[in-house]
Order: sequence, then C-alpha cells, then structure tokens
Amino acid sequence: MTSAAKTGGAATSSAPASTVVDNIGLLLTHDEERPEFSDAAIVFENGRVAWWGASADAPSADARVDADGGCVLPGFVDSHSHLLFAGDRSDEFEARMAGRRYEAGGIRRTVALSREASDEELLANASALVAEMRRQGTTTVEIKSGYGLSVHDEARMLRLASTLTTETTFLGAHVVPTEFTDDRAAYVRLVMGDMLDACAPHSRWIDVFCDNGAFTEEETRAIIGAGHARGLGARLHGAQLGESGAVQLAVELGAASVDHCTYLSDADVDALAGSSTVAGVLPGVEFSTKHPFVDARRLLDAGVTVALASDCNPGSSFTSSIPFCIALAVREMGMTTREAVTAATLGGASSLRLDDVGHLRVGARANAQILDAPNYRHLAYRPGVPLVASVFLDGVRDV
Ligand code: NIG
Ligand code: FE
Repeated sequence: MTSAAKTGGAATSSAPASTVVDNIGLLLTHDEERPEFSDAAIVFENGRVAWWGASADAPSADARVDADGGCVLPGFVDSHSHLLFAGDRSDEFEARMAGRRYEAGGIRRTVALSREASDEELLANASALVAEMRRQGTTTVEIKSGYGLSVHDEARMLRLASTLTTETTFLGAHVVPTEFTDDRAAYVRLVMGDMLDACAPHSRWIDVFCDNGAFTEEETRAIIGAGHARGLGARLHGAQLGESGAVQLAVELGAASVDHCTYLSDADVDALAGSSTVAGVLPGVEFSTKHPFVDARRLLDAGVTVALASDCNPGSSFTSSIPFCIALAVREMGMTTREAVTAATLGGASSLRLDDVGHLRVGARANAQILDAPNYRHLAYRPGVPLVASVFLDGVRDV
C-alpha cells in the first residue's frame, strides 16, 4: 500500500489542490448549523473541507466531480478490526449456523496459523481487507494485534498495522496462548512487561478481552494500568459472552470505548450514560455467532455515545462492510438509518477520540463518499447492494 492509502494520518499525493463535488442529492455534513441538506456542493482544498453550500452557488476548483444526484456523506470510521491474521475459519461459521456455540478458544487456531505466516503474507491479507473496506466507504480503520501473542509476533503485527493506519491497538491480552495454559500469571506479566515494551512504539491504544474464557477484571486492570503508564489509551472488549464487570470497569478506567456490549445490565447502561466511554456495537458478530443483537435503542435513549464497527476478524465477524453493519443495526438493533450512519461516522471518531474525521464540517479531513443512491437510507433499504460509487481520502479520489 502506498502512504496515500494509509487510513489514519494525512495522505501525501499529487492530486488536484482543490475539487468541487456538485449536483449532490443530499449532503450529510454533521455540522451543527446545517447537518444535512439537498441540492448541495462541497469543495475540498489541500485535503480539507473548504466550503459547502447550494450546488447553484458552487465556486470553481481545479477539478469537478458530478455527484449525479447521489448522496455525499463522511467516510466511515471503523473503530474496531483485527486484520493481521492468516487462515480461514469458515468451518466454524458453518458449525455455528448449524447450532454450535461461539468460543473464544477459536482465536488460538488463528494464532497458530498467523505465527507461521511471513510478514509479506500478513501484510498482503491486511492490505486487501483495507482496500475492500475502502471500496465500501471506510476511510479510517483501527487495527488490533492479538493473533501473535508472543513478543516477536505481537510486535511484528503492530509494526505491519502501523503501515496501514495510525489507529493501532496492542491486544496481547486477547486470550492466554497454549504455551501458557498452566501459568496464566506468567503470561499476564509478559504482556505487561516485555511484550508491552516491544509493542508500545507501534501502538496508540491498548485493549484487553475482558470476558469469560479470556481475562479477568483484575488482570484487565493491571494490563490497562501498564499501558496507561506507557502513554497508550485504553479500549476494552467487554460483555461479548455474558454479563460481567467489564463495562463498568471500562468506565472506571476512562477507556475510550468498550466494544461488543452484547449483554448489558441496567447498571452498565447507567455507567456508560454518565461517562465519556463510547459503546462500540458490532452487529457482524451477532450475525455470525447467533448471539442476541444489542438493543442499541436502550443505549441511545440513555444518552450513551454509540459507535458502529465491523470487528472484521476471521472468527466472530468476517465482514469488512460497514454498509452491511448499518443494515443489521437498522433491522435488528432498533436504530434509525440516520443513527446507524452517525454511529459509523461521528461515533467511530469519538471512539478513537479523533475530531477531524467522521464529519464534513469546514476544516475536517476531506474523507468522504458518494453513494449511487439519493439518500443514506438506501444503505439499509438496499442491503447487500454495492452503493458506494466514489471515495475521497484527504480530498483525493481513491475509489
Ligand atoms: O472481537 N472477542 C474477541 N476477539 C474477537 C474474536 C476473534 C476470533 O474469534 O478470532 C472479537 O469478536
Ligand atoms: Fe474484536
């Protein structure tokens, strides 16, 4: 991948300095004054949003793109993915569809295959998935490690991830690897010690899978504390497999997000509502594991900030498609299309604590997409249809 294709930091490319996109059927800016309006145009200049207004008033620019009545919205911000892996677990998916339950232990299968894979293989697979995401409107993606689980393999996965995005997350605490089954305390010490030392230079975030069959609250508290001491922000996997203290722990630790939230108590919802911790909902997981879909309505009505993400990984959710997640969220999670789109743009940005993506206010990064549809409702109304016609990354047309 070229640096222009990296999804976090600004792209460097010799594109036109300014582009006007006009003839827009509906423009979603998320601007407080004019969040969305029809018959619009938008101008990108030097990688940023410089102007928007009525299509009839559009100024000229170095390049012009006719949206042909399509909807323009911010690029999606996918705040949760695991793209550095090798191998296939479609057999597990098929077994689940036939009634087998999802088990976190499947992670170890991917670990064994990923450790054997070369850097080139891992990067080619992850790059292809980033490109697949881009074609479906995603312009920012967070990428976790977690299929290495040794000092060497976690560090190389984060080094590879950092060539694709600035939003890299150290997930050494994904599961306890087989070789530490008899001494999990030693593995936790390794994660907090040598592994963190090797991974921190390539990571912005630290994550722990705090759930039944993964890591306890006490272990999570210690690992996140060590990450904080190294300047990493916290995110948690929590309440995926059952109710636990993970959600309230995430709030207590000041985590930027707690993702999954499949099994929530009233106390969890109350804790999230009074906090700056974003609830990440991942309907691809519920689709692929047959766990119940999250009642996102309950979170939204309580005032919780919700992010909608793919959790793209080979075990519990092998989709790279935010449009698919939007359709599921609308069909199964009680969200309106507007709420689901907001969760996949502004919500994802909040989850990653980024303020210049996920919206198209003047000054934002010019990360945007044109749909082959008159409004964003079509993302749920026409599920499975490739509606993303063009994608701009830092003002440069990338798709
Ligand atoms: O987010 N919950 C933990 N990790 C992944 C699943 C990984 C796997 O099954 O390989 C998730 O769902
Ligand atoms: Fe995950």
